[in-house]
Amino acid sequence: MINRSLVFLLLLVSQVSWAQVRVVTELTDNWKFKKGKNEQAYKVNFNDKGWQKVTVPHDWAIYGPFDKEVDKQVVAIEQNGEKVPSEKTGRTGALPYIGEAWYRNEFTLPNYKKGQKVLIVFEGAMSEPKVFLNGQKVGEWAYGYSYFYFDITNQVQEGKQNTLAVHLSNQGQSSRWYPGAGLYRKVQVIVKNPESIDQWGTFVTTPYISADLAKVNVKTKVAGKNVRMVTQVLDAKGNTVATDSIGKLFGNQFEQNLAVANPQLWSPETPYLYTAVTKLFAGNVLKDEVTTRFGIREISYKPTVGFSLNGKVRKFKGVCLHHDLGPLGAAVNKAALRRQLQILKDMGCDAIRSSHNMPSIEQLELADEMGFMFLAESFDEWAKPKVKNGYNRFFEEYAEKDIVNLVHATRNHPSIVMWSSGNEVPDQWGAEGVKRAKLLQDIFHREDPTRPVTVGMDQVKATMASGFGALLDIPGLNYRVHLYEEAYKAFPQGFILGSETASTVSSRGIYKFPVEKAVEKQYPDFQSSSYDLEYCSWSNLPDDDFVLQDDKPWVIGEFVWTGFDYLGEPTPYDDKWPSRSSYFGINDLAGLPKDRFYLYRSRWNIKEETLHILPHWNWEGREGQTTPVFVYTNYDSAELFVNGKSMGIQKKHAGTPQNRYRLMWMDVKYEPGTVKVVAFGKDGKPVAEREVKTAGKPHKIVLQPDRTEISADGKDLSFVTVSVVDKDGNLCPTATNQLSFNVKGKGNYRAACNGDPTSLEQFHLPTMKLFSGKLVVLVQSTDQVGDIELSVKGKGLQTGQVKLKATR
Ligand code: GAL
Repeated sequence: MINRSLVFLLLLVSQVSWAQVRVVTELTDNWKFKKGKNEQAYKVNFNDKGWQKVTVPHDWAIYGPFDKEVDKQVVAIEQNGEKVPSEKTGRTGALPYIGEAWYRNEFTLPNYKKGQKVLIVFEGAMSEPKVFLNGQKVGEWAYGYSYFYFDITNQVQEGKQNTLAVHLSNQGQSSRWYPGAGLYRKVQVIVKNPESIDQWGTFVTTPYISADLAKVNVKTKVAGKNVRMVTQVLDAKGNTVATDSIGKLFGNQFEQNLAVANPQLWSPETPYLYTAVTKLFAGNVLKDEVTTRFGIREISYKPTVGFSLNGKVRKFKGVCLHHDLGPLGAAVNKAALRRQLQILKDMGCDAIRSSHNMPSIEQLELADEMGFMFLAESFDEWAKPKVKNGYNRFFEEYAEKDIVNLVHATRNHPSIVMWSSGNEVPDQWGAEGVKRAKLLQDIFHREDPTRPVTVGMDQVKATMASGFGALLDIPGLNYRVHLYEEAYKAFPQGFILGSETASTVSSRGIYKFPVEKAVEKQYPDFQSSSYDLEYCSWSNLPDDDFVLQDDKPWVIGEFVWTGFDYLGEPTPYDDKWPSRSSYFGINDLAGLPKDRFYLYRSRWNIKEETLHILPHWNWEGREGQTTPVFVYTNYDSAELFVNGKSMGIQKKHAGTPQNRYRLMWMDVKYEPGTVKVVAFGKDGKPVAEREVKTAGKPHKIVLQPDRTEISADGKDLSFVTVSVVDKDGNLCPTATNQLSFNVKGKGNYRAACNGDPTSLEQFHLPTMKLFSGKLVVLVQSTDQVGDIELSVKGKGLQTGQVKLKATR
């Protein structure tokens, strides 16, 4: 039986005249860039001939050079418990992000006819953007991470060239990490009819879900009178599974409920996506059309039960991520984001926190598609400063606008399961802060009644006393493992989220002796040990969090600080030059896994085996000395052999948190040769083994691309892991050879990164030293299809070569 609305729709479709609907143009090419004041650069006739040609997204600061003097801050970092100021170098990455700069772009809009509406949309501009079109100012914003748009209908010209100029300005002491600089996210121009759907005007929710039926509620804000909305829901294959047509406007909003039979639910394991196509008609004329991807899923947070997704209780296995992409800086790149998520997926991670700001739309799209839950954060500061020129300067004027835009621009992403209005804000102290917490949470609720709000709290005692923590939907604790129990009792919500955990520090492939737990330990080489026992005065080891997750049903999961190293905040070497990037990452700045990756994987990836040995076995000079061996594995017990001699069986057991989650042979004496581990299954029989050998001299360069075929779109990237092996193919774990890179054919050398937090080599230059035997080279496609060849050379080493393909 055909229902009535379908009949109407069929009639409608057969009579529709297909007028031009919206045209979205991404401004990628044809940009000119220059640093400096250039006060006249907003003018149409300004001469920008000598300016640098760039493409957007672009980060002007990532090309360096690293410089100790950039943003050198003589400060006491109060939230780290410091009382006395000291010189902080590298806090924001020691890259030249400070200053003013201009971007100019000349574009025409062939489809634009006078009478239409034109918007310009920025998904982030670092920072304090002022936007001019054809010599006139069209608007300005403040926070560099915000999405915002302006109506440029009055400034845009029909059939002629339009001159866009964007002024950006970054102040020193405005960040606690590398913020990047420039138009580092997408810029789009949207041409649409006067009768049209508002920017971010669609809101899709799924308020009722059962096995055989889901209610999809679609609210759409529009401009225009005597208009009608037709909405279709498509399944992942593009089949229409529900249709609705409505003519009744409430104010400027349509509201529709569509029934989807036998809904496929979205989850990290089954990231099934539907699409809502909303069409606006005036009479029979189609005036606008917007496509919105969404998921059908149910979230709930309940006392003692905790968090559940689609009715199943689960705990967040999450990581915090800063927005920079290591050697690419802040310039957003989907291939780089996708690779990060693939690495995290393999680890078993199922959630991301965009610390401490709005995520890129690209990252949310990938989280929807690949299956990651998302904690979308907004601010690192409210009205009280952490850094002199931080968000505190904008809070009063912008906080509400920034939250509204965050919610409107991203609320249809099923991945987002929680908002955060702040991270460790100093406003945790004082009565005003309590009011602000409520104010911001109310704004989130007003704009999106479907998701709860958290704040990452470090001043847990203060927030218990003041009521700050009690009013939040979700009390988030940053570290403070010793206060979980007390906070659970004091707060009324009935659960606690580990909104930020661990902050364990390590450098990939670096091991220090003796092996012992240590707080903010420093070494002369400015590296931290990969035995994963070093942390900070405010933080803890991964195992401490595991204990809470496992023993307390009311702990709803964790977001580890951090999934990947990031530029800036080189704790525990904040005041040591040349440290310029973090040591907190589970993976290093190049995206290469540190040992900790396997510790989390052994617990989070419940489908695949993990059996990982550390340290490496090249300890010339340590013969006969105690060199403990750790094994990170999902198996409960294992036996260790050094050159065939048993070192005994270890079994995970109650004792220290480390005993529960790691297998540790503390008394092994080093002798060159082979370390082998044999793991036992539940029945005590051997099920798996691994070995690590002492490597000989560096002999040959080996290249391993993450993808051999990339898209010829001028953006896509292949990440090629470069390592040096001995003549038998063993990784040389201490090699530091200087290598050089050459790309031929339809691709370009883009950047390299070795994950060494103290390296001052510039990422875009085609040479770099290995760090712990490895580095990563990024090869980028052009817009032409064809073969690409990367070759990597090093003195005295057999050259490495790899062939890639750019396709369409
Ligand atoms: C937290 C903070 C993070 C980062 C981290 C380092 O207190 O929220 O941004 O600074 O410490 O451990």
